[in-house]
Amino acid sequence: MPARETWATRIGFILAAVGSAVGLGNIWRFPFLTSDSGGAAFLVVYLLFVAFIGFPVLLVEFVIGRRSERNPVNAFERLGKPAWTFAGVIGALAGFVILSYYSVVGGWVLRYIIASATGAYFADPAAYFETVATGTDAVAYHAVFMALVAGVVAVGIRDGLERAAKVMVPSVIVLLVILAAYGATLSGASEAYSYYLAPDLGELSGNLLSILPAAAGQAFFTLSLGMGVMITYSSYLGEDRNLVSDGLTVVAIDTMVAFLAGLVVFPFLFTQGVDPGEGGVGAVFISLATAFAQLPAGRILGVVFFFMLGIAALTSAFSILEVIVSFLIDNFGVDRKVGTIAIAAILFVIGIPTALDLNVLTAYDAVANNILLILGGLLLSIFVGWVYAEGSLDEFVRGAGSSASLSTPWIWVVRTLVIAVLAVTLYLGTQDVITTLQETVL
Ligand code: PHE
Repeated sequence: MPARETWATRIGFILAAVGSAVGLGNIWRFPFLTSDSGGAAFLVVYLLFVAFIGFPVLLVEFVIGRRSERNPVNAFERLGKPAWTFAGVIGALAGFVILSYYSVVGGWVLRYIIASATGAYFADPAAYFETVATGTDAVAYHAVFMALVAGVVAVGIRDGLERAAKVMVPSVIVLLVILAAYGATLSGASEAYSYYLAPDLGELSGNLLSILPAAAGQAFFTLSLGMGVMITYSSYLGEDRNLVSDGLTVVAIDTMVAFLAGLVVFPFLFTQGVDPGEGGVGAVFISLATAFAQLPAGRILGVVFFFMLGIAALTSAFSILEVIVSFLIDNFGVDRKVGTIAIAAILFVIGIPTALDLNVLTAYDAVANNILLILGGLLLSIFVGWVYAEGSLDEFVRGAGSSASLSTPWIWVVRTLVIAVLAVTLYLGTQDVITTLQETVL
């Protein structure tokens, strides 16, 4: 067997992982979940989840990937525990559900690039979102986005995407900072900041049971955890890399982008008098469209912003499709182009209902994030914490050449805190989803 391909440079791996992590999850999903779940109380729980659950689970995935040098489905066999293959399969299933509707939201972004150039939403951003979010046009843009993702995966231009991510992430950050600075001058800014940044402890404890699963799902979604993307990316890692510092870099950049997105969205929503709980999945589109409609050079800013967001969405969507397709190639010798087109076509069809009805989109989103990703993360943590406990813990996370080691505290956090919290949130999330489904279907 030829030596397994590895990342050419340290920055290559980090760029790919950041490219996967930073996406619609940060700029679209984070602000609307925060507003749905009561603002600052949600922010606090979310940040705690990222630090104490998300980061350790990111290391869990890194360890599985680097140890097994395999894709998430085959990794367990390679590590001598073939019975655990189902954990990888759950991840792949989550990937199917996520990408099917992620592409619909990606389609909205594509549409907003054009609408920014023509000024289509300038007159009434909220009404504009209503009309474009669902319907045949939404299906058409969903098709275009899925075709773009498939194109990138089929041709295998990961390098190109990495280079795009290198430009995309700093540009998104700069644009968000500019917009946040503008937002600070708006009349609704101070009300917005107290909603977003000053947690009300009464609210926190009162709503904890619904905040917990939402915050957990968001932490996993935004860090691309629970479905094996990070296992796959780290399977190309050399032994000498320090997983802790790489993981910290990914978590820090990802969290910063989401936090900034909140600083942009809330001042605009409050200034317009939109009740934060009402923005729903349209929150970011409506508030940013309003910003671009008012700002000098708003059209250009809008085109640039939604274009960058489109690239961010593409690098994330790429990571999901790539995991599914490379599994097919590795196991069934499927041709890359054929496999990609077939999977993308299936995903397109699965996504159609979400482009026709926002309740369906919300349902897919809840099932994937509050159940499948959490279940995936829980299984991976049990596996690394209690099943695959062989070998020196130290070399689990530490790269050769670095002396400080966090392995022992990390593994105990995984074995106890992470598993306990994920088990509870999985239970709460499942209850939530069942109630919501009953409400919307019946
Ligand atoms: N992390 C991506 C985002 O925030 C979404 C994603 C989820 C990507 C799961 C891969 C796996 O947009």
